[in-house]
Amino acid sequence: MSWSEATAKVESRIDDLRERIRHHEYCYYALDAPEISDAAFDALMRELKALEMEHPELVTADSPTQRVGGKPEGSFAKVAHSRPMLSLDNVNSEEELRDWVRKVEELTAKLPNAPALRYVCEYKLDGMSMALSYGSESASQRVGGSAKASSAHLLRALTRGDGTTGEDVTSNVRTIRSVPLSISAAKLKTAKLPAEFEVRGEVVMPLAAFLKWNEEREAAGLAPAANPRNGAAGTIRTKEPNVVAQRRLDFYAYFALTASGENLFPEQDEALDALAAAGFRVNPKRKTVSGIDELLAFIAQADKERADLGYEIDGVVVKVDSVALQQRLGYTGRAPRWAVAYKFTARSGITRVDDIRVQVGRTGKLTPVAVLVPVFIGGTTVSRATLHNADEIARLGLRIGDEVLVERGGDVIPKIVEVIPAQKDDGVERREFAFPEQCPECGSAVKRTEGEADYRCVNIDCPARLRESLLHFSARNVMNIDGLGEALVAQLLERPLIKDSSGGEAVECHPVHSIADLYLLDEAALLSLERIGKKTAYSLLAEIEASKKASLSRLLFGLGIRFIGERTAQLLAEEFGSMDALIAASTEELERVNEVGPRVAAAVREFFDEVRNLELIERLRAAGLTFTAEKRKKSSQLEGLTFVLTGTLEGMTREEAKAKIEAAGGKITGSVSKKTDYVVAGAEAGSKLEKAQSLGVKVVDETGLVDLLASG
Ligand code: IVH
Repeated sequence: MSWSEATAKVESRIDDLRERIRHHEYCYYALDAPEISDAAFDALMRELKALEMEHPELVTADSPTQRVGGKPEGSFAKVAHSRPMLSLDNVNSEEELRDWVRKVEELTAKLPNAPALRYVCEYKLDGMSMALSYGSESASQRVGGSAKASSAHLLRALTRGDGTTGEDVTSNVRTIRSVPLSISAAKLKTAKLPAEFEVRGEVVMPLAAFLKWNEEREAAGLAPAANPRNGAAGTIRTKEPNVVAQRRLDFYAYFALTASGENLFPEQDEALDALAAAGFRVNPKRKTVSGIDELLAFIAQADKERADLGYEIDGVVVKVDSVALQQRLGYTGRAPRWAVAYKFTARSGITRVDDIRVQVGRTGKLTPVAVLVPVFIGGTTVSRATLHNADEIARLGLRIGDEVLVERGGDVIPKIVEVIPAQKDDGVERREFAFPEQCPECGSAVKRTEGEADYRCVNIDCPARLRESLLHFSARNVMNIDGLGEALVAQLLERPLIKDSSGGEAVECHPVHSIADLYLLDEAALLSLERIGKKTAYSLLAEIEASKKASLSRLLFGLGIRFIGERTAQLLAEEFGSMDALIAASTEELERVNEVGPRVAAAVREFFDEVRNLELIERLRAAGLTFTAEKRKKSSQLEGLTFVLTGTLEGMTREEAKAKIEAAGGKITGSVSKKTDYVVAGAEAGSKLEKAQSLGVKVVDETGLVDLLASG
């Protein structure tokens, strides 16, 4: 075989592996329906990694190996649970719940001197259950039998796993802010908790974090995850604690047990109060009730509130309050008899795809959207579902006319989960969808960049881009121009813009063709539009005027620079303090900002290097928009300094060291270069330490770091 033949063979194997890995990641994260075992997945990943290692020239940015937060290839240590983590039986209707209550009442009635039957109602959080063990950090260091009260520390976090054995994900769970890392002796005392105990509860990904994460996935060309539960589970299983930290997970506690898994309190509601007193997050939406009517009332209330909670719940968990009763009611197979999960009606439905249309976004990205035969799902009528991109349509094997399963999770845009295979002949005509070769809005060519999943319209003046940019600019969380909606924007883009000259004579100019033109609108212009009266015109002008005072960070977000979301815009505004400083910033300076990496820095630079964008900025300046912001105070002692951590630290974990350095304004990077200010070397530091020495970078040990943190 010639050399080029051999390379071609490797290339095609690599392509094949990537394709398959992507498919399985999709099944795992987006559908929650893995087709192969973790071990088989790991084997594919290992082979790809090995090939890429041998042929670094074939590594592409979109290879599944290049992603942070992917499925970990190693595995977490398996640890046995103190007592099995069980699941709950579900009931799906009032009738089934009544049956369950009746059974519990009957069993209770048979028991001699049974306590009064009360139930604790809790929200059923749609996340991942987790067991946290607390105890004294170094039991061995305690002086024999010393009665000195000690605090409790988080020792270990275990996933449910198979119920008997879980996975040790402590380093990831430590980054969840609602998980206390230690609890003082005083707090333990008020909460009546011993120094060693176990807490069980649910790790959830709040909706805001979920939406942000999905945005990032989309920016990276990945299919959005179906629901926050997959978000929480996927995040907990990553091997990067700093990635976990960014995802803002939450932990809600619902069981307090002894270290050997026995109940710590005689009643469930008492346990919840104790956990709250100890500093755990316990869902305040809980209630102790008696009887079916009160149970049903709680459930009805929960169903009403669920849309506005900020996190996803999929039902209500009902637990018998008395632990003595719980023990006497016992278990059936895998689930307790003393608790049940009332599940809300599923938020999915089956319908037919009538058509597939293509929408053009503000970056020119073309998104296929399924037009559905309207279907009622979880309280709303769904008639559209996003299809993400062409790959997604191929993966689903979707044709126009197919029957599909549609899911609506949280706040997310409905999505098609799967195609329901056609029965022999249902008489419905089906046709393949072909991605258009021309932009459906302007007719320009459509292009797909190598290695990217998305097609884009090449015309930067595409009217759809301008329309979407204007809508984004005026959105509530951006410049907040209330009243500038779709209908009005459509008119503004078509109608000549009329301006009253000082003589009162109307002058006709071009229609709106830039964001800056919004600030030229006047009463005459607005009144020339259809369905706009004086009152509407005045209030819109007032809104536009008010938007000039919107902060620099909002303006930056509103400009629609690639990868610049709300948060990054804020960090940039705080760091540079003015539009001009930002325009002048080099990519290196940009990268010094926390959370700004090379990709984002390049996008910012690219934006400000474009003459047309600079013209837009100048026109916005002339219109009087806010171009300055309060700079973040540089009170922090490590501001501007870059650190690399290596080796094992003793007094703190790496994540703690990182958090401390960042809190003091310092930045952590992964590799040592001439730009590194300090290398913090713990025990058994290796190549990074050598590199620091060869480059003459300052090296400090842990004590040195503590000194730096204290003094600067
Ligand atoms: S109690 C033996 N309480 O729902 C009792 N579970 O279907 C087991 N869940 O695996 C759990 N919120 O992941 C309980 N307030 C709550 C819950 C809750 C969510 C999850 C948990 C569990 C599953 C059971």
